[in-house]
Amino acid sequence: MTQAIAHAHIYAARRARLASQLGEGGVAIIPTAPERARNRDSDFPYRHDSYFYYLTGFTEPHAWLVLDATGRTTLFCQPKDLEREIWDGYRLGPDAAVAALGVDAAASVAELDKQLPQLLENQHTVWYPFATHKGLETRVDAWLNAVRARVRFGVQCPALQRDVCEPLDDMRLIKDAHEQDVMRRASAISARAHIRAMQTSARMLRAGQDVREYHLDAELLHEFRQHGSQFPAYTSIVAAGANACVLHYRADAAPVRDGELVLIDAGCELDGYASDITRTFPANGKFTGPQRDLYNLVLASQDAAVAATKAGARFVDPHDATVKVLAQGLLDLGLLNKSKHGSVQDVIEKRAYFPFYMHRTSHWLGMDVHDCGSYVEPSSQGETSTRKDPLSGETIINRPSRILREGMVLTIEPGLYVRPADDVPEAFWNIGIRIEDDAIVTSGGCELITRGVPVIASEIEALMRG
Ligand code: GLY
Ligand code: MN
Ligand code: MN
Repeated sequence: MTQAIAHAHIYAARRARLASQLGEGGVAIIPTAPERARNRDSDFPYRHDSYFYYLTGFTEPHAWLVLDATGRTTLFCQPKDLEREIWDGYRLGPDAAVAALGVDAAASVAELDKQLPQLLENQHTVWYPFATHKGLETRVDAWLNAVRARVRFGVQCPALQRDVCEPLDDMRLIKDAHEQDVMRRASAISARAHIRAMQTSARMLRAGQDVREYHLDAELLHEFRQHGSQFPAYTSIVAAGANACVLHYRADAAPVRDGELVLIDAGCELDGYASDITRTFPANGKFTGPQRDLYNLVLASQDAAVAATKAGARFVDPHDATVKVLAQGLLDLGLLNKSKHGSVQDVIEKRAYFPFYMHRTSHWLGMDVHDCGSYVEPSSQGETSTRKDPLSGETIINRPSRILREGMVLTIEPGLYVRPADDVPEAFWNIGIRIEDDAIVTSGGCELITRGVPVIASEIEALMRG
């Protein structure tokens, strides 16, 4: 059975766009990801390379795409092999690949070392992903050496090497309608998973059961797979109580206690695209006073960030809006002492909020959870200014932040993490809160695609009663 890759025309159009950026005599070589052994005969679940997938839609391992500036594409892939297919599963094979993927030619991956020097002959520039595939540079060297060996026959060898991620990162930064559709669906699944975990927490506690972080992690996984997600987009964080103050905590075996908050940062990957949601909720379904105060402050800061997210704004604008609200709230709630820290402006300038909010508000989201794409505005390249960081004293080079454009997708994820300290009211100790949504930039604002799970405290409480 030969299956055409769904949406093959979309991948073909992307290849053509990349080809048009390679310059005369340019050839791009893009491998997919290697398989990785976990131990002995057991591999980690296979995940294709995002750049390769972006250009092919092809998910088998041991595959390479070669593309030249004229738009001619060659795919190298695993050959048909009945015995291997009995053990490992169906392979498309080169014969079927041409029609299924819409490439011009296809060959067995065993042909790569033979054909690559031929494909590089009389070309000018070889493009490949720099510093991402172990050993790739060495292989490119060998192919170039093979071309050089034929220079005395009048063959020309490429003189330039360039990083193919550079044009691809820019292409990937703007998500087309198909990508946005997949991301909306991934987000909807993840939202359901968060609701399921919230409801399970309250239900188990009501029943007097011993709830552990892994119980909630299991609910997330159930919902992801139930709706066709291939895997979590990243290792889920399920952090009960004080664990929420550990930014990269993993779901473990800690007890989920009545009266404490739970922070879940989890999102599924669907058809190659990530979702990334964080919700913080009371384990038993009812916020305490101090929990609610801090929660509402983080939520207000997120509202401000959402309002600042629109085409034409800068990437840094949502972060700046967040920090402003958090700084004011930290002063108002007494987490920062007004007589010591002064005004909101002082708190921002001296970064006095940093012990409570030490990460950025956003990152690009796409095929990778921290997706590719420069955070610096390309049209302002070379414009720099410097400042001294008030906390570290280091000199920081500022470059103009990226201007947001329609179709960019970013997270909006403010938080507050309160560790015990003498000058912090004890009622807030060990509370960690983050609220994270995924936003598609639109002309007048942004579309939050993760609001299938609510963020308003009373709405979370209502769904946890159900
Ligand atoms: N889940 C990873 C992040 O929020 O950046
Ligand atoms: Mn995130
Ligand atoms: Mn996250």
